[in-house]
Amino acid sequence: MKNLEQLFIHQLKDLFSAESQLVDALPKMAKKATDSKLRKAFEDHLEETKVQKKRIEEICKEFNVSPSGEKCKAMEGLIKEAEHFMEEVQDENVMDAGLIAEAQRVEYYEISGYGTAVRYAKELGHKEVAKKLQETLDEEYAADNKLDKLAETRLNKAALS
Ligand SMILES: [Fe+2]
Repeated sequence: MKNLEQLFIHQLKDLFSAESQLVDALPKMAKKATDSKLRKAFEDHLEETKVQKKRIEEICKEFNVSPSGEKCKAMEGLIKEAEHFMEEVQDENVMDAGLIAEAQRVEYYEISGYGTAVRYAKELGHKEVAKKLQETLDEEYAADNKLDKLAETRLNKAALS
C-alpha cells in the first residue's frame, strides 16, 4: 500500500468481507434467539447488512476494484466465538443475553471500521462515498442501541433470576 487511497480500498474490502460473513452468521443467531424481539432485531439487521454489503459493492465499482479478495480475520474470529457460545449454552435466558453480547462486539467492530472508512473518504475528497458509508455507520450505531435496550430491559434481568 503506497497511499491513503489504497489503504481506503483495503478497508473497504475488509468491511465487505466482514459484512459477507455476517450475512451468513445472522440467520444462525436469529434461530438461536429465544426472545421474539431479539430474533426480530437479528432478522432486521440481516436485511440491513445485505444493503450495507451492496453499498460497498457500489463504491468499489466506482473505484473500479473488486470488493472481494480479502478475508476479514477479525470478523471470522468474532463469529467463531459466537458459534462456540451458541453450542455451549443450554439456558434460554443466558443464550439471549450472550447473543446480545456477541452481537454488540460485532457492531463495535463495524462501527470502528466504518468510522475509519468515512474519515478516509472525506480526507480523499470522496464526499458522496463518505455519505454512503456514513449511512451504514448510522445503521450500525442504531443496531447497537437496539441491542443495548434489549439487554437492559429484560434479558439481563431474566438471566439473573
Ligand atoms: Fe454491517
